[in-house]
Amino acid sequence: MKVLIIGSGGREHAIAKKMLNSPQVTDVYCAKGNPGMRSDDIQLVDIAEDDHEKLITFAKEHAIDWTFVGPEIPLLNGIVDDFQVAGLKIFGPNKAAAMIEGSKEFAKKIMVDNDIPTADYEAFTDYQTACDYVKEKGAPIVIKADGLAAGKGVTVAMTLDEALQALKEMMTDHRFGESGDKVVVEEFLDGEEFSLLAFVKNEKVYPMVISQDHKRAYDDDQGPNTGGMGAYSPVPQISNEMVENAVEKILKPAATGMMKNDTPFTGILYAGLIATEAGPKVIEFNARFGDPETQVVLPRLASDLAQVIDSLLKDQEPELIWSDQAAVGVVLAAEGYPNDYQKGMAVPSFDDQVTVYYAGVTDEQGATKASGGRVLLVEAEADSIEAAQTKVYQALNEADTTGYFYRKDIGAKSKK
Ligand code: AMP
Ligand code: GLY
Repeated sequence: MKVLIIGSGGREHAIAKKMLNSPQVTDVYCAKGNPGMRSDDIQLVDIAEDDHEKLITFAKEHAIDWTFVGPEIPLLNGIVDDFQVAGLKIFGPNKAAAMIEGSKEFAKKIMVDNDIPTADYEAFTDYQTACDYVKEKGAPIVIKADGLAAGKGVTVAMTLDEALQALKEMMTDHRFGESGDKVVVEEFLDGEEFSLLAFVKNEKVYPMVISQDHKRAYDDDQGPNTGGMGAYSPVPQISNEMVENAVEKILKPAATGMMKNDTPFTGILYAGLIATEAGPKVIEFNARFGDPETQVVLPRLASDLAQVIDSLLKDQEPELIWSDQAAVGVVLAAEGYPNDYQKGMAVPSFDDQVTVYYAGVTDEQGATKASGGRVLLVEAEADSIEAAQTKVYQALNEADTTGYFYRKDIGAKSKK
């Protein structure tokens, strides 16, 4: 098989690398990918992810068996619809189904219609009405820009002042552009967060092992929200009962709810959950693999990822076997991220105890240099979370990380 992966980050590196492990796969192309992927024999394709026409031509000319979409933007741009119209196989939700991620209001409607436990919410387009509502509800309260704001359009306000400030920034200062024209105000959910992802084909749901992301920039969950600073799997403090509950009461009803809504979902469904005292509740759905969750979940997949996707595309039952190993992944970010950050630093090398998934890197005169906020992720597997942490942090400590920073506490919550 020849497969094409759309995307260019660490998540796509992990997906592509796993696909290459398949004995059935001869070629893995990634558009655009990044130069860090070359070390793993992933072939880079210099076509932008929004240039559907060129991607379709490429897939036809290279006899690609099927395409896998990593990020949400091409999904929301209808890349799946366009490939299908061109008669090409592609795995991911079409434009209508990707709205489960693209619009918080759409997602909330699916949840309310299908009794999926989530935070109470209200959507607003009028600034003053939103302020009045927030004052009535009080803090803590959560303010979200509807639509996408690269993971940054969310404020978990612990005080009323913070909440009102967030509304002002989104709705009158347009800090997140148009996505702030509509704002969702949400009940604050108290509990530990975890990510549950599943392969979904219409009503059929095949859950993966759970993981936990670390969204704040600094240790002890301090600092601004980021795209994710590291993750680990399993998450032993979340009980099996909590996870089973989430599969039965959240993932399965979401898949059938999407069918009933005439927006059937095929692809990776990502539930961002909070383990509350009353059971798991949804904070968000994504229509794709998570980054950095993928980099710790896929290494634990003992079966063949390409075979899983191929089976789902053919409406066959996939084989899913997970290893008992623990995986820990720590993001190496450029100093300053998630605000203005440094660029152009040399990319450090690491010992072979760890796997490196590249994200924000570029080629400059033959050398790989840092070019993005999240530059790479260092991942290791071991018999326990502690042992995996030791491997990862040893590798990071030994590397020259001048101009970078990373969290020192990825996985620490598993021991609390
Ligand atoms: P989101 O982009 O919706 O995932 O939100 C970003 C982060 O804000 C989440 O990872 C949570 O840590 C936090 N968050 C979002 N919604 C809520 C909520 N209703 N209650 C508590 N925390 C939340
Ligand atoms: N790790 C969070 C996300 O992928 O949205």
